[in-house]
Amino acid sequence: MSKAIRIHQTGGPEVLTWEDIKVGDPGPGQVRLRQSACGLNYIDIYGRSGMYPVGDLPAVIGMEAVGAVVAVGDGVEGLNNGDRVAYPMTLGAYAEERLIDADKLVSIPGSIGDETAAAMMLKGLTAHYLLFRTYPVQAGDSILVYAAAGGVGLILCQWANLLGVEVIGCVGSEEKAQLAKDNGCHHTILYRDEDIPGRVREITRGSGVAAAYDSIGKATFEASLDCLRPFGVLATYGNASGPVDPFSPAILAGKGSLYVTRPTLATHTSTRELLEQGAQRLIDVVATGQVKISINQTHSLSDCAEAHRQLEARETTGSTVLKI
Ligand SMILES: NC(=O)c1ccc[n+]([C@@H]2O[C@H](COP(=O)([O-])OP(=O)(O)OC[C@H]3O[C@@H](n4cnc5c(N)ncnc54)[C@H](OP(=O)(O)O)[C@@H]3O)[C@@H](O)[C@H]2O)c1
Repeated sequence: MSKAIRIHQTGGPEVLTWEDIKVGDPGPGQVRLRQSACGLNYIDIYGRSGMYPVGDLPAVIGMEAVGAVVAVGDGVEGLNNGDRVAYPMTLGAYAEERLIDADKLVSIPGSIGDETAAAMMLKGLTAHYLLFRTYPVQAGDSILVYAAAGGVGLILCQWANLLGVEVIGCVGSEEKAQLAKDNGCHHTILYRDEDIPGRVREITRGSGVAAAYDSIGKATFEASLDCLRPFGVLATYGNASGPVDPFSPAILAGKGSLYVTRPTLATHTSTRELLEQGAQRLIDVVATGQVKISINQTHSLSDCAEAHRQLEARETTGSTVLKI
């Protein structure tokens, strides 16, 4: 027997229950992992609340963890018992032990600790694909980053700064503004009070940003379009305020031949090549200290209801780790 957080129905944090599960032996292509820490991600809230499907109930939620291989199924090559691995995007992470397809796993070097590995994979690979694939930034570009002091946000700010980009960050408080600035953000907008497009035009001397990386969704979609330069890219990649309403593509013409995309890390880790390319770049910048992973909240996995509550209430900054 092993313990896991399962949901028997979708709903608020109270549906998260710590209970015994059977794990079993790995099938062909799988390994069994003994996990030491999970990363908390906003997508866990979407799964718990019912916004995103999690399959048949009861279900173990959670997408990201680090652990050691304790059993190897037939046909698995390159992984042995005791190997330290992490993964970014595979449902069933909130568990002491689990089965997982071996091709979802990334080896973690000894220079990166377990909690950092758990905190960085999903958020860091998201920052990677946004900056390198969705709109590949150029040195000298100006970009807009929402929730700049959040988990994905702090990584985006640091990595974009490293690439020579001017970063404008939207933040929910003065404290978050300072934290974003300490992590490479050049300008901040207190977007609960300030007019986002007005401030962006002021900072960019009227020209607008090359890309807006918008994790807020419904509440900020139109403002994001109004921040872009001609041919600019809006990557609307999250729903913290709810999903974006349907819109007419004609508005993109009027605002300067804009591009809108709704990307997901699922596509960007859907092949071994995509996963490895992103993971290698992420591990390099973290292992060399060029991008730091701020773990600003830790909870035990069994107490993840409180962690969910804090994330939804906008009380967290940086990454949250659930220790096992
Ligand atoms: N598409 C993908 O591939 C992908 C992958 C990873 C994450 N994401 C998305 O990226 C976003 C960030 O994820 P994260 O795990 O790093 O979370 P996070 O940014 O650490 O936390 C969410 C933040 O969103 C802001 N926010 C604004 N309006 C909000 C509202 N109505 N309710 C709650 N929060 C609100 C808050 O920051 P302020 O107080 O500063 O406003 C809050 O701290 C999420 O939307 C997530 O779904 C998408």
